[in-house]
Amino acid sequence: MRFPCSGPCLALCLAGTLALPAGAAELPRIVERDGRHALLVDGAPYLVLGGQAHNSSNYPAALPKVWAAIRDAHANTLEMPVAWEQIEPREGHFDFSWVDTLVAEARRNKVRLVLLWFGTWKNTGPAYAPAWVKLDNRRFPRMLDKDGKTSYCLSPFGEATLAADRNAFVALMAHLRRIDAGKRTVIMVQVENEVGTYGLARDHAPRARAAFEQPVPGAVLARQPPTAGRPAQGSWLEVYGDYAEQYFHTWAIASYIEEIAKAGRAVYDLPMFVNNALRDPGTPLLPATPWKGDFASGGPTWDVLGIYKAAAPHIDFAGPDIYMPESGKVGATLARFQTPDNALMVPEMGNAAGYARYVYQILGRGALGVAPFGIDYASYSNYPLGSKSTDRRMVAPFAAVYAAFAPMQRLWARWAFEGRTRGVAEGDDRAPQTLALDGWQAIVSFREFQFGERAWLKDRNDYPIGTDAPNGGVAIAQLGANEFVLVGQRARIRLSGLGANQGRMTMYARVEEGRFDAAGKWIMERNWNGDQTDYGLNLPAAPTVLKVTMGSVEQ
Ligand code: DGJ
Repeated sequence: MRFPCSGPCLALCLAGTLALPAGAAELPRIVERDGRHALLVDGAPYLVLGGQAHNSSNYPAALPKVWAAIRDAHANTLEMPVAWEQIEPREGHFDFSWVDTLVAEARRNKVRLVLLWFGTWKNTGPAYAPAWVKLDNRRFPRMLDKDGKTSYCLSPFGEATLAADRNAFVALMAHLRRIDAGKRTVIMVQVENEVGTYGLARDHAPRARAAFEQPVPGAVLARQPPTAGRPAQGSWLEVYGDYAEQYFHTWAIASYIEEIAKAGRAVYDLPMFVNNALRDPGTPLLPATPWKGDFASGGPTWDVLGIYKAAAPHIDFAGPDIYMPESGKVGATLARFQTPDNALMVPEMGNAAGYARYVYQILGRGALGVAPFGIDYASYSNYPLGSKSTDRRMVAPFAAVYAAFAPMQRLWARWAFEGRTRGVAEGDDRAPQTLALDGWQAIVSFREFQFGERAWLKDRNDYPIGTDAPNGGVAIAQLGANEFVLVGQRARIRLSGLGANQGRMTMYARVEEGRFDAAGKWIMERNWNGDQTDYGLNLPAAPTVLKVTMGSVEQ
């Protein structure tokens, strides 16, 4: 659909659309309880088993290769860009034909959508802004460094830029409301993409300089305490010292995003989030070091989530884009981004095989979901960030994990919201890991043969086929005092008693392999006993779901 519309005209168009269509069901939303979160879709917790398309697949002709990969992956959600340049190629003239095609095809493919608004910033740059924006540096200014040199990055102090981006975003949300409020195919919207600025901590143009001299807003102070030894109030420099420029730029970008998100939600109130090109997660107990050009200043990095919360209350969460393959960094990043006021959701992750095991860890932690990047058979590989393959070999490791979760996706999302789930991914050190459960603990070890103990092997360096690189993982949901659902691959799990079960003789009462059907009913396929349980529960290479009942007797 095409219609020319902007400014006051747009406001009038919207006024006529504010009532939701008759019969429209509950809008998706993110809820919090006891510091845990759920994404409610159609009124119930929803698990995003997602995939993100490549950057340039946001055109109808590219979709067949996207749907094929999404189908193969058993994904239930596609993350897809909507670029400002494509919906408003001429100022005030909107073209939503891409959005219409995408939404219609998503419905045919029975997949939900998360739309990614590539506006003022995409990976910090203005590449996806229309030519009339990115080529007009007077009206839509870029940032200046302290010597007055122009940066590549559009300034968050550009009033005309904000007005134009917001106008386009509002038009998009109004259009979504018109075409989708009754069906909710689109369940979330990411506002901008990996914002911040490389190589420059903040804008030095006159408006920005004046703002930098102003007192730090109280809302920011409440969330981002002053640097040790500095006054409780004052200008950015006075309060934050070496951190001042990064914090100020963060506040400026977050405030800009807030204006866009707030205006968009006023029209159509979908959950909204931002994503982050990570800075090193460091050591979780240590504070961040000041910015020194080592990440994009102004982005929602883990150290400034409080500033985003203060400045952008219409953004539900900031999600980490995980392209650091090291298990230690993945674990630390997940911990940094999962807080009582920040729901964990991984909107991007490398699509190399080694990342598939992290799905267990992420979903076990109770995340809203995860989406590897480049689940798309376009002939493009972003190696070394992701897989070298662009075909089924790339999708296969994720497809296997998603296939195991898919039948119980709604159950898993509910269990996660209830705090019943835990998860691990095999570490780079290949060492065993322990998961604390209620009354039990699970010791998860890797590279084990399914029969017997490692100590029995003549050659202690003898390992199962296919375990040269770490690829094991397990997620556990505790359904009752002694009842568990385990889903995982290439791992040995041993459950032992804790608390009231400690000191008692514990055993498996029943270990069923099977799956949940579409109605959430457990379908038992076989019962594990004998060799299959004598040496722990040894999950094979193919993701497997077990329903385990433990028992204990007095010694
Ligand atoms: C992160 C960005 O958000 C994506 O759009 C993409 O550019 C990847 N990096 C790299 O493929």
